[in-house]
Amino acid sequence: MPPWPRRLLLLAAVGALWAGAPASAAASCKAWLVQSVPTDMPHLRRVPGVLSTADVFQWLSGNATKNLDILAQYWQLLAQPKNPKSGDYGFSESDMARFGAGEGLRVYKALETAADRKVKIRIVQHSGFAPDFDEESANLAAGRPNVQNVTLLFGDWWGSGVLHAKVWISDKKDVYIGSANNDWKSLTQVKELGIYFADCPEIAKTIEVYFENLWTLSTLNSTACTKIAWDKQWQTSRKVPCWSHFLRPEQRCRSPLPLSVDVPYVDGYPSLANPEMLDVLIETPGHNISTQEHYLSYLSFAPPELSFDKFQADEQGWVDTIKSVNSGGIVRINTMDWLGQSQYATQTVFWPSLSTAISEIIFSKNATVRLLVAYWTHFIPNTENYLKSLLYSNTLCTSSKYNHCGGKVEIRYYVVPGYNETGQATVTGNRYPDFTRVNHGKYAVSNTRANIGTSNLIWDYFYTTAGVSFGTGNPSIVSQLQDVFDADWDSPYTVPVKPLDLEASA
Ligand SMILES: *[C@@H]1O[C@H](CO)[C@@H](O)[C@H](O)[C@H]1NC(C)=O
Ligand SMILES: *[C@@H]1O[C@H](CO)[C@@H](O)[C@H](O)[C@H]1NC(C)=O
Ligand SMILES: *[C@@H]1O[C@H](CO)[C@@H](O)[C@H](O)[C@H]1NC(C)=O
Ligand SMILES: *[C@@H]1O[C@H](CO)[C@@H](O)[C@H](O)[C@H]1NC(C)=O
Ligand SMILES: *[C@@H]1O[C@H](CO)[C@@H](O)[C@H](O)[C@H]1NC(C)=O
Ligand SMILES: *[C@@H]1O[C@H](CO)[C@@H](O)[C@H](O)[C@H]1NC(C)=O
Repeated sequence: MPPWPRRLLLLAAVGALWAGAPASAAASCKAWLVQSVPTDMPHLRRVPGVLSTADVFQWLSGNATKNLDILAQYWQLLAQPKNPKSGDYGFSESDMARFGAGEGLRVYKALETAADRKVKIRIVQHSGFAPDFDEESANLAAGRPNVQNVTLLFGDWWGSGVLHAKVWISDKKDVYIGSANNDWKSLTQVKELGIYFADCPEIAKTIEVYFENLWTLSTLNSTACTKIAWDKQWQTSRKVPCWSHFLRPEQRCRSPLPLSVDVPYVDGYPSLANPEMLDVLIETPGHNISTQEHYLSYLSFAPPELSFDKFQADEQGWVDTIKSVNSGGIVRINTMDWLGQSQYATQTVFWPSLSTAISEIIFSKNATVRLLVAYWTHFIPNTENYLKSLLYSNTLCTSSKYNHCGGKVEIRYYVVPGYNETGQATVTGNRYPDFTRVNHGKYAVSNTRANIGTSNLIWDYFYTTAGVSFGTGNPSIVSQLQDVFDADWDSPYTVPVKPLDLEASA
């Protein structure tokens, strides 16, 4: 495996010296980690230099002069405590103020103001949720020809799945990628993690291609452009776009997307032997580790049929980040959901990709893996079976006196206080609105590389659902993301998951 980060481009560095370019002039691209921290978590250590999601969303709108492109699963920026169909129902004005609902209103107003200054806003979204579905984006578009809103249904193309990527691109240079939805709750009642780029046209240009591909998809006739493939990788028949590499070459159509995956040889689709990397010098004003050297970064995309050029599929971004750990190093993984299978697909698919990568590095690299999974009201019941199965790797690791296996996996639930007291206020005992009080961030960080994503760690998110990750070997981003994880891991809000009790089951 090639070392990571590859201290790239000695040649490029020499070139820059030759050109006499001062490093600061080249390094205009700046990145900050972005968080939402739910209210009422007084014992959570705050990591300095991390921005707040509500600020970043307002800035992306506020700074836009020409374009704003947004990928959104749904819209709920405006709280609805008076709507009996809303999870916010029954809470008082002062409750809502205490919950921080005003931040959602501020983001919505910033978008409205951008729309009024004739910024060209394009929105690609899923169909939204009850009670009002995508009414907020429709209201932004109403009577404003500069605002365009389209709905893209992944079920029509992949049989199931949703547009789940959360991405903002402003003026083709400022970008947000992360876990936060366009929902007031994502700003102050759900724990989120993302990254904000300012003045980064190279990163914006790449993610813009993905946006354009989704936009194009929304204009195409899915009936005419999908086929049933025998998916050899996952041993299931399923609906895919007709240009999918899951179809045999003679069954495939030419991709209607202007930019599609362009690889002559695909070994074990969708992973690529040499995925495309971006050589962007990134400054991190929120965390001061001097990084004058070049480190590789990447973007990865799901589903594989929506990737392009030689950019890797999102699953590979995660797997390779886990495997990027050095011998004896630590991998930290944070997710809301974790399952070693599919969740929404008609046929249930077994999906060991991430747990296998974890077991591999525990065995051969003596790595420690810390996995933080959310425990909340809408917890998926069979999660714990998969977590215990992964913990069993520790037993296997030391199962023979001939093993030289010194790694381990540790798993904790993240329990945001109040998680079991959520729902409409009319039900006694509910202290917070529904769909709140949960750790929703999705990222992994080894000692050499960080991957900040939008997907939960379940098969569907990588094969039938829109998702994006930004990854980098930039040591400043790596170290600050480790610190964000450690603040959570070491907080009183985590509970260890217990290993399988073999005595009891015997
Ligand atoms: C533009 O973005 C910067 C941070 O990148 C922020 O400080 C500033 O307030 C934003 N401006 C507006 C008008 O939102
Ligand atoms: C887009 O906005 C218009 C104007 O409000 C609305 O009529 C339309 O239903 C919306 N389309 C979608 C897909 O939400
Ligand atoms: C979509 O394609 C199908 C199959 O080719 C065709 O029957 C249908 O009329 C098309 N729909 C539209 C809206 O063009
Ligand atoms: C980072 O370093 C620069 C220059 O040394 C300094 O001006 C700035 O205040 C520092 N920022 C932080 C967040 O420590
Ligand atoms: C891993 O740890 C074991 C037991 O402590 C040791 O024997 C082995 O040499 C280590 N392997 C590596 C690759 O560090
Ligand atoms: C919620 O969980 C906490 C901590 O486990 C517990 O003390 C409390 O009684 C629970 N509340 C309800 C309504 O179940």
